[in-house]
Amino acid sequence: MTVPALEITGLSKGFGSGRKKNQVLTNLSLTITQGEVFGFLGPNGAGKSTTIKLLLHFLKPDSGSLRILGKTVGQEEFRHRIGYLSEFPFFYDHLTARETLRLSGRLSGMERQALDQRIPILLERMTLTEAADRRVGGFSKGMKQRLGMANALIHDPEVLIFDEPMSGLDPVGRHQIKGLIAELKQEGKTIFFSSHILSDIEALCDRIGVINKGVLLYSGGLRDFLVAGCGLEESFVRVIEEANHACA
Ligand SMILES: Nc1ncnc2c1ncn2[C@@H]1O[C@H](COP(=O)(O)OP(=O)(O)O)[C@@H](O)[C@H]1O
Ligand SMILES: [Mg+2]
Repeated sequence: MTVPALEITGLSKGFGSGRKKNQVLTNLSLTITQGEVFGFLGPNGAGKSTTIKLLLHFLKPDSGSLRILGKTVGQEEFRHRIGYLSEFPFFYDHLTARETLRLSGRLSGMERQALDQRIPILLERMTLTEAADRRVGGFSKGMKQRLGMANALIHDPEVLIFDEPMSGLDPVGRHQIKGLIAELKQEGKTIFFSSHILSDIEALCDRIGVINKGVLLYSGGLRDFLVAGCGLEESFVRVIEEANHACA
């Protein structure tokens, strides 16, 4: 059997201490198989970005373990095998798109020659060829998001982790990002992305995880999550409301 792409076991995380402690994740377990598109859904503040930051080892868990392609996060090297798009990607405004990709390629240890080949392909794929030598400071939100995606793909990783890749984009921008995610799946990549845009999740995902107030309410096939006779939006709202009611 192949190892899971991502394996989260009994993950808990809080911020602060004592009476002021804010418990953000409670005993979260989740397994993502290689080659699947997995949508991580939850209301604002549910703990999606925190989970992603723990996966990338930007934060340390209070308890639990995280594995990426069988490697234990925090103990073994895994970063060259994953690509990450942050919820708020950071760019140097004075660099051009091409220079931005060159910088991230160099930082991930790629040789100049490999970058000379790879960068034009990625720019073309993200429909940024015409903007390649323009400064990123003047880019629209959609262009920045596509550049962020190119950044995540520069070293051709197997597993992609995108935090809210469609948020804040207009319908054209969202359509482009959705198309790219579908293409990446075709290539056999594993994609784990968070979102609260339910129609995007419905269009792309094999399986979903639903999180509320740091507790995983569901993980499994999209169809099995749907409440009889309801679409995803209504099912989602009902499940969240029930959970909030139960812990009120
Ligand atoms: N660095 C931090 N310090 C303190 N609290 C944080 C920090 N990061 C996130 N939180 C809190 O954790 C909760 C979950 O946040 P987050 O993971 O960003 O949610 P989501 O991405 O699902 O919207 C929120 O209540 C947020 O205020
Ligand atoms: Mg978030």
